Amino acid sequence: MQAKELIETRRSIRKFKDTAVTTELIKEVILLASNAPSWKNTQTPGYIAVTDPAKKTEIAENATMTFSHNKDIINGAPALIVLTTEDGICGYEPDGKPTTSKGTHWQSFDAGIAAQTLCLAAHELGLGTVILGIYQEDKVQQILGLPENKKVSALIPIGFPAEAPEKRKRKTVDELLQIV
Ligand SMILES: Cc1cc2nc3c(=O)[nH]c(=O)nc-3n(C[C@H](O)[C@H](O)[C@H](O)COP(=O)(O)O)c2cc1C
Repeated sequence: MQAKELIETRRSIRKFKDTAVTTELIKEVILLASNAPSWKNTQTPGYIAVTDPAKKTEIAENATMTFSHNKDIINGAPALIVLTTEDGICGYEPDGKPTTSKGTHWQSFDAGIAAQTLCLAAHELGLGTVILGIYQEDKVQQILGLPENKKVSALIPIGFPAEAPEKRKRKTVDELLQIV
């Protein structure tokens, strides 16, 4: 797809076919996602593909803050990408001091770019994704055995779409843009 069409036709997908997503296909998505820009090219966002059904169920059942909507999405997806970041690198000097007044802001900024790049890459390859922000970070860290400095920036279920949602309403360019 051309970039314009890819951007315009991506949707959050919350219902997936039972078909498994192969490791090769996940690697293809991550290879494309690795093109995302990052702070000083530090590339702190990382991706954990949870394909083990037991581990995925553990996250769905214990780390979705009783938000059954997200629990059901994760349970219904063949795989879950856990998007991680590392503390104290992105937006920081080698001596640990923040480079700007915005402190930890750039860590999430890079993760956001990585997430959208991944979602667009998946869409190009015929896969659907949805970014989930409602989850309990410490529970996910504990289930996956992540070290303290590795944070969870988003959960992204991934699979072959079993729905084709309409485009959700967007603000107009006039509402979004100020030219001064
Ligand atoms: C940071 C972020 C957090 C989100 N969290 C959730 C979530 O917890 N559950 C969910 O179903 N969708 C979640 N979404 C998806 C949004 O609801 C969705 O992107 C928005 O409604 C626009 O729809 P579209 O992605 O199909 O264009 C999240 C999206 C973003 C960017």
